[in-house]
Amino acid sequence: MVTSSRSKSQAQAPQKYHEPVQGTVFHGDGREEALLKHLQSLSSLSAEETSSLSLQDRSQRVLDAIHEFGKGENRYLMSIGDTKGRQVEELVKEKKPKLILELGTYVGFSGISFGRHLLELHPDSIYPGDWTSNTQEDRAGYISLEKSEVYATTARGGFKLAGLDKVIKVITGSSTTSLKSLRETLNMPKPLKFDMVFLDHLKPLYTIDIKVLEEEGLVGPGTLLVADNVVKPGNPAYLSWVRATPEQKRKSLQAPRLTKQPPVTPNPPIEEWETAFHDGPIDETRWAPDEAEGITAEGDPGLIYTSEMLDGWDPYTGEKDACEVSVCTGRQD
Ligand SMILES: C[S@@+](CC[C@H](N)C(=O)[O-])C[C@H]1O[C@@H](n2cnc3c(N)ncnc32)[C@H](O)[C@@H]1O
Repeated sequence: MVTSSRSKSQAQAPQKYHEPVQGTVFHGDGREEALLKHLQSLSSLSAEETSSLSLQDRSQRVLDAIHEFGKGENRYLMSIGDTKGRQVEELVKEKKPKLILELGTYVGFSGISFGRHLLELHPDSIYPGDWTSNTQEDRAGYISLEKSEVYATTARGGFKLAGLDKVIKVITGSSTTSLKSLRETLNMPKPLKFDMVFLDHLKPLYTIDIKVLEEEGLVGPGTLLVADNVVKPGNPAYLSWVRATPEQKRKSLQAPRLTKQPPVTPNPPIEEWETAFHDGPIDETRWAPDEAEGITAEGDPGLIYTSEMLDGWDPYTGEKDACEVSVCTGRQD
């Protein structure tokens, strides 16, 4: 059964530090390099200051410093932020995933927020720095894919300061291509798969990338999917896929491919919010792209997801946003 239920956050909307950023330069103008220099210059994050702290306290210092930096003029950071991030952290603590895959590292805020729980949840596991071919059963780790070498460098610097460099492995390159060869890259023989996938990269790629993951068997029954920004800017194509039944998905694959992206609704008024996002859409059309970088994928339409939306806000603009949380409960042939 596929359900779409409401999940209202009790948290308060955050203070507004920036105007909405659509249509303006909001990354890639040197701020990410400046962030790394800033973090490395803070005495509160130095080895002497943090060596006696718990991993949670040490990583929280880094998260707080990243968030503070992002409040500055022209320093907006496209991170998941505190309100949505905390809710996803609770899911990590509850579901106890061992292997987490992230699409879209950026400066590492989500990686630190979620990855920092792995060592406590699975203290006896073997982490990416020490993976070899005979550690498959005992593995835990946070694999993060990032297109930009510059952002990956900043993130790796933050992971080191947070004490998480052995837990998180960043792989640079474009997601769809990286996913096609990820089993090989990580030496992950079947049936090993991810327990959790966090999708937070280029919005039109969520659908093709989840389909590649399904086809590669890297997600399947038991996997938890968390997709950010399904309201701002919105992602009807992805929501349609994870909210549809196997029958609806099989039917959609018979339909001709569309050449345009589905419409998105930035900043919907409250009444549209309810119907447009919590309850819909399940649209039996085949939104583009299910092709990227010469790779096509039709996914595994037999997979059954239970899906619901977690409300939250952009951490700096205060705009409403949400994560779609989907659990793969089984497979129907
Ligand atoms: C919204 S940010 C990720 C934020 C991060 N997850 C966090 O919450 O801290 C999106 C990231 O996806 C990366 N990205 C965009 N297209 C990509 C692709 N095709 N493959 C991998 N990463 C991509 C961008 O460079 C950017 O760093």
